[in-house]
This record gives sequence, structure tokens and C-alpha cells, in this order.
Amino acid sequence: MKIGIIKEPVSENRVVLLPESVKELKKLGASVLIEEGAGERAFASNQWYIDEGAEVSDRKSVLSNSDLIVSINPLEIQELSLVKENTVVISAFNPLVNHDYVNELLQKQLTSFSLDMIPRVTRGQAMDILSSMATVAGYRAVLDAAMHLPKFFPMFMTAAGTITPAKVLILGAGVAGLQAIATSRKLGAQVFVFDVRPEVKEQVMSLGGKFVEVEGALSDVAAGGYAVEQTEEFKIRQQEAIHNQAIKSDVLICTAQIPGKKAPVLIKKETVEAMKPGSVIIDIAASTGGNCELTQDQKTVIVNGVQIVGQSYYPSTMPSDASKMFGKNVINLLKLMVDKSGALQLNFEDEIIAGCCITHKNEIINQRVKSTINK
Ligand code: NAI
Repeated sequence: MKIGIIKEPVSENRVVLLPESVKELKKLGASVLIEEGAGERAFASNQWYIDEGAEVSDRKSVLSNSDLIVSINPLEIQELSLVKENTVVISAFNPLVNHDYVNELLQKQLTSFSLDMIPRVTRGQAMDILSSMATVAGYRAVLDAAMHLPKFFPMFMTAAGTITPAKVLILGAGVAGLQAIATSRKLGAQVFVFDVRPEVKEQVMSLGGKFVEVEGALSDVAAGGYAVEQTEEFKIRQQEAIHNQAIKSDVLICTAQIPGKKAPVLIKKETVEAMKPGSVIIDIAASTGGNCELTQDQKTVIVNGVQIVGQSYYPSTMPSDASKMFGKNVINLLKLMVDKSGALQLNFEDEIIAGCCITHKNEIINQRVKSTINK
């Protein structure tokens, strides 16, 4: 089996597999074809890939000669016609939203796996790119906040007086939020956290954060570790509690999200206007609208001296380790797809394979995608 790795769009610094992965792919019985320059923005040269045993070629040849093509960002829709029949394409397709793309995959009869649909089960953790990239985002968001904040994070007792520690409010204690708590604590801040899932309270506390509770949150174990939509009454109470905490905070890190939905708006304009000038809001949920009403994706806006940073590309700002983690996730998934002789062996009885497979032989496999696309 020939695995093709392509160069990502110009806005992306990561590469899906670093040269260090080539050896592992060869152990699986695969050969590796890589587009010229694919790794250069992640500091991985063509020569390094060649030294590890890959073949370097131009994009067209990678697309038309690979049996399996893997990338972080999906191929351009028109490029799908350059891919040969029965090729497997693996990427993050955002298939609950990108229905046109799913329909094109169907029409071309390609087998596709979406890395953003790996089921959140214990066995899936090693393949979960959303978790690994959220780890990068949570870490980077705090460093970005520290750079924007006109104050220190830690407490200092100096000859020039005592500096009080920064107060950080984190919205959402999923993977990104938990990493943001840990990073803020390492920098010495006081950390307060909101989440609608009561089960995260212990994790928040074990990282040194204070869990701010709002009664009446709905949660659903069947949602597989994700949040569910809340009642209007709860939303009003939550907004009030967040308002009261936000006006005392120096930094807000927004990570609250419900998969496949617009991010919940938790910070209204009036809250921003009541916050201390010089405070910083980092909204990493910006690509789906953000948790702050005033967030603009990929922009920093200033309202009453409060900086609101909408940032959706943190993983790309740390391409070495982000690519390393992404690649590890991909290899762990590939291990489930390849038999001992190195041939592709797709077992649809496996909940991970069935969960992240979007299309196969003219059929939509993932049930959530199937039901949203037919609505
Ligand atoms: P996750 O699903 O693990 O965590 C989201 C958390 O938000 C959950 O704990 C959930 O219970 C909580 N939540 C949902 N609704 C809430 C509400 N109304 N109030 C309080 N909490 C609520 O997601 P993960 O993996 O931590 O990702 C977080 C965000 O980071 C997502 O928006 C994701 O798209 C984004 N992200 C951003 C990146 C960037 O570069 N900016 C990179 C990677 C992820």
C-alpha cells in the first residue's frame, strides 16, 4: 500500500506526518510518497523524509499514485477527481457541516475517514486529533493571554512592592480548558472555571482550579463526554454567574463548545463593557462564532480597553509538536486499518472504524453524518 502525504494550504504550518513517522509506516508494510516541500513549514526537509525511506514527488503524482492519502486539511474538492478509484482519503472533513464535500466523496465513491469524528471512547484517545490539538490550543491560548496582559501572571513580593496574581476565568473544562487551567496554574495565576458537565469538577480541582457551579445544568452520559444544549432558564443564570466572575478577572479563556453546533454565547457585550480595562479575552471557539458575543475570528478587537482575541489556528503556531502529536494519532488509526501483510483491512464491526468512516462504496457510514445530511 502506498501512503501519500500532501503539502497543506499556505495558512497551515503543520504537516500530517513528520519524517520520524516514515519508519513506523514502513513497519506496517506501507511505502510513503510525499509531496515536495510538505514538511518545510514544520522544519522537516525533503531530504529528511528521503533519509527515512520516503519518496518525494509533485502533488499531482502523489494524488494519482497513492492508495491512501492523509492530510490535516481536506484536499480541494476539485482535486478529488485526480485521485484514483478506491483510494482511501483521511483528513478532518468537518462532515457534520461540510455536506457538499461529503456528497462529492460519495459521488466519487471514495472511502473517507474523518479524523474529527473519532469516537471519544478510551481506546480512541490515542487517535483523537481533536484532543491533541485542543491540548496545543489550551496551552498556547494561555501564553498568548500572558503576552497580551499588561500585568504579571504570578504573585511577586519584591522590593518594589507586592504584585497580586492574575485572575483567570476559563469557560469549558474539556481538553483545551483543562490544559489552560494547568498552564495558567504553572504561571502562577488564580484560576476559576465554568463547565456544564458536573463530572469535570474533580479534574478542575485536581489541577488547582476553583469550579464555579451553576445549578440545573443538563448533562447526558450518552453524549460521550461532550456537553448538550442547555435550557433557556439555565443559560440566563449561567450568564449572570459568568458576568459576576468576569468583571473580577484579568483573563478569560473561552473554550466552551458543543460538537456540530455554534459555540454557546456566554459573554455578552455588557459583560465586556463592565470588565477591567487591560483585561484579555482569548476565544479559541472563534471558528464557530466564539463564546464572546464580540469575538471576530482571526482578529483582535478592543472594546473599552478589553482585548478580545479570536484565534482558530493555535496548533499551526506550534508546528513541530503539533505535527508530532497529529502524526501519532494518525499512525494509531492506521494500525487499526492494516493487516499483517500491509494490506488495507477495514473492519466495520470496530466502533472506531465505523465511527470515523464517513463514506464507503457509495454509502454514508457515520450515523450522525447520515442523519444530518438527510435532514
Ligand atoms: P471539548 O468538547 O472537550 O470541551 C468543551 C467543553 O465546553 C466541554 O467540557 C463542555 O462541557 C463545555 N461546555 C459546553 N457548553 C458549555 C456551556 N454552555 N458553559 C460552560 N461549558 C460548556 O472541546 P475541546 O477539545 O476542549 O475544544 C475546545 C474548543 O477549542 C473547541 O471550540 C475547539 O473547536 C477549539 N479548538 C481551537 C483551536 C484553536 O486553535 N483555537 C484548536 C483546537 C480546538
